[in-house]
Amino acid sequence: MPVAAVVGGHWGDEGKGKIVDALAAEADLVIRYNGGTNAGHTIVNDYGIFRLHLVPSGVLYPSAVCLIGPGVVVNPDALIEELAMLEARGISTRNVVVSNRAHIVMPHHQMLDVREEALRGSGSHGTTKQGIWPAYADKTARVGVRVGDLLHPAYLDEAVRYQVARTNRVLAGSGDGGAVEVGAGDGGAVDADDLLERCARWREALAPRIVDSHGMVQRALRSGARILVEGHLGVMRDLDWGIYPYVTSSTCLPGGAAAGAGIPAASITRVVGVVKAYTTAVGAGPMPTEIHDATADFIREAGQEFGTTTGRPRRCGWFDAVAARFAAELAGFTELAVMKLDVLSGMDRVKICTGYRLRGILLDGMPDSVTLQEVEPVYETLPGWRLPERIEAPRDLPVEARLFLDRLVALVEVPVTMVGVGREREALLRLEAPAGSEGRR
Ligand code: GDP
Ligand code: IMO
Ligand code: MG
Repeated sequence: MPVAAVVGGHWGDEGKGKIVDALAAEADLVIRYNGGTNAGHTIVNDYGIFRLHLVPSGVLYPSAVCLIGPGVVVNPDALIEELAMLEARGISTRNVVVSNRAHIVMPHHQMLDVREEALRGSGSHGTTKQGIWPAYADKTARVGVRVGDLLHPAYLDEAVRYQVARTNRVLAGSGDGGAVEVGAGDGGAVDADDLLERCARWREALAPRIVDSHGMVQRALRSGARILVEGHLGVMRDLDWGIYPYVTSSTCLPGGAAAGAGIPAASITRVVGVVKAYTTAVGAGPMPTEIHDATADFIREAGQEFGTTTGRPRRCGWFDAVAARFAAELAGFTELAVMKLDVLSGMDRVKICTGYRLRGILLDGMPDSVTLQEVEPVYETLPGWRLPERIEAPRDLPVEARLFLDRLVALVEVPVTMVGVGREREALLRLEAPAGSEGRR
């Protein structure tokens, strides 16, 4: 049975949560493979609006097992809170498990993130301040503490004390005199005993959910179970291929899913690239199609473009087909989900960025991120559309909206199979991929 991956095709917040929710109706196992509470995936259904940060977006279907994979960095307090929120709203979390290999985001990781952003001043990156890079930095420095370590108190004691001592050395040598007040102990230092007490509380709350996911995933693969892997962010914020340094600290591509979920890369044969009918970003860094006039305000209001994790207003711009094509090539999108077509409804004209120009010269594809700061987008203008009140099937789409989708298919060279026309679960049209089209595989 093929494994399907849901991957962001732009700068994040494309509507991945909604697509995972839609596909999870037919999934047995849903795995989050990277990131942490920087992600905010929204699902709207009959029970209301759910904003998920760590728990996979398949949780609203009781039959699906939801695994927080080894590639995720887990803030245990946030996970405990999210599970309690779901339970309080009548959603069973019985099937939510977390890999013993996932790393823990410690309170001092968040503190370091906040501090670094403050030290950068006006040049801050605009991270979500969730401690993502410090947690991944400790992971790669091989001083990380893993979720499974909570079950081994003696090892945990040693690992936590080492990580704390190392962090305190950094803080002591920082020279900012503890000027950045971020909730550490006296004098800005981290207290290992306090942290170990917290670890004990985390163990108590999470122990029954901690699993060695390898056997579970292998059994699922062997038995032909339907597996869905859920990415966070989008390719433009990928650590290797995004707009470095304004990226996140994990791999957003399906290759990251293979490692971060524990699935052989070749098993991932369906890759759903998710994009909006326009482009948004939160945080700093180049975004060539950003709009700076009233049109951006229109899109922001109509699309409710405010960060799911931080509430920050999102930067809004026209659809960037260069970035979407770049993402499709790197991630091997086999199909495209185009979300929020309804948001542009009522506009006289819409634009698509078909290329970038640098000092008058048309570039071939995506340049490096420093050059990207300087490019000018080349636009194609298309007629706008007005969606009808009720839209239940692709045939209800106005001809102008179809024309827009056809242009995206031609530019990105991936068939569109799903179109979002509203926030609700039902507001998703399924399109037949044209025979013989297989996306970028
Ligand atoms: P994710 O991080 O990719 O899961 O996306 P977010 O949840 O952060 O942001 C997407 C936002 O758009 C959420 O508020 C969704 O409820 C909303 N959304 C998703 N698809 C559609 C759509 O087709 N139309 C409209 N109007 N809203 C949508
Ligand atoms: P989902 O999964 C949008 C952005 C931040 C910042 C950069 C690095 O909901 O699409 P980090 O906190 O990861 O160190 O921040 O990435 N960012 C997101 N933008 N959606 C997200 O997740 C994001 N997660 C991080 O704004 O620019
Ligand atoms: Mg989001």
